[in-house]
Amino acid sequence: MPDFKRMILKSGPCADSVAFLKFYLAALERPAARVLVLALRIKFSPDIFDEIRRCSLPAGEKTSLFSKAMNLFKSGNAYKTTAAGRSPLTDAAILAEAGPGSLIVETGVSDGVSAMGLLENTKGAEVVLTDSQDCYLYKDLCCGRKFYSRDDGAVSLKLPLFYFFTGSTAGKFPAGAGRIPLLNPAVEEKFRAELLPFDVFAGTLSRKADIIKCANVLNEAYFFLEDIKRALANLANNLKDDGRLFVCQNNKKYKDGEAYFILRKKNGRLELAGEVNGHELLGRLSSPLFADLFKP
Ligand SMILES: C[S@@+](CC[C@H](N)C(=O)[O-])C[C@H]1O[C@@H](n2cnc3c(N)ncnc32)[C@H](O)[C@@H]1O
Repeated sequence: MPDFKRMILKSGPCADSVAFLKFYLAALERPAARVLVLALRIKFSPDIFDEIRRCSLPAGEKTSLFSKAMNLFKSGNAYKTTAAGRSPLTDAAILAEAGPGSLIVETGVSDGVSAMGLLENTKGAEVVLTDSQDCYLYKDLCCGRKFYSRDDGAVSLKLPLFYFFTGSTAGKFPAGAGRIPLLNPAVEEKFRAELLPFDVFAGTLSRKADIIKCANVLNEAYFFLEDIKRALANLANNLKDDGRLFVCQNNKKYKDGEAYFILRKKNGRLELAGEVNGHELLGRLSSPLFADLFKP
């Protein structure tokens, strides 16, 4: 049965131009204009990322516009909201533990700007950026474009001045589909970085990591607690023995707007190796649900 509510919420009038995006974002900042543009249900299609990539704005403005456009998109239930160097406490703690040759993997990195704090100070470590949604795929139609989300296969259509979320999913992606990468151009150009597909629930890294960062992904607003446990177990599988998983959340409710905890892998199980500012998931880890994953 199609989810009509989701189809209606994710469809609407669409004009993928950089000038219109700037106008729209400015309107969101003004309370009266915000009500109006939200009521009009204006949408942007994934084409907006290529428009920004191609435009001639100064580099800093382009970087910020790309991330602001990303903030308007979702991956399943999760928002793609991000910001440059957003988790400085977690990044500093990671860099304090990483050494030359360490493999640091940031998961659910959105457009990659949240990893800039790590990329700028690697101290000889390798930083790999991953997200379940690394790109959109597309096929051109006679009067528009068909998009496929790479994480869940969700299909949407761009018609003249309208974006339609079909609510259906593609079992298989079409051969020869075009690709709209979601890595911020600044991260790509400055750090020669890549964004690799990796699902925190089921993904396997090409080699086990010394450190995994998972910021603003494992959240009960996005996932059930059982799923969060599944993600922690899978991330643990992708860590070397003695590797560490940094789980972070940015929210005004925490001191300094950030909280994180560190889980260390020991003999296949996880143990709490540190925490800062009382991350909301900490209390959950001692529940019976997590008993088989955690060493007391
Ligand atoms: C709120 S954003 C956080 C972005 C970035 N980590 C930050 O802190 O700014 C959540 C990100 O998680 C990603 N995500 C959602 N489900 C995921 C999954 N199963 N595996 C990996 N990433 C996922 C989304 O695509 C999105 O980019």
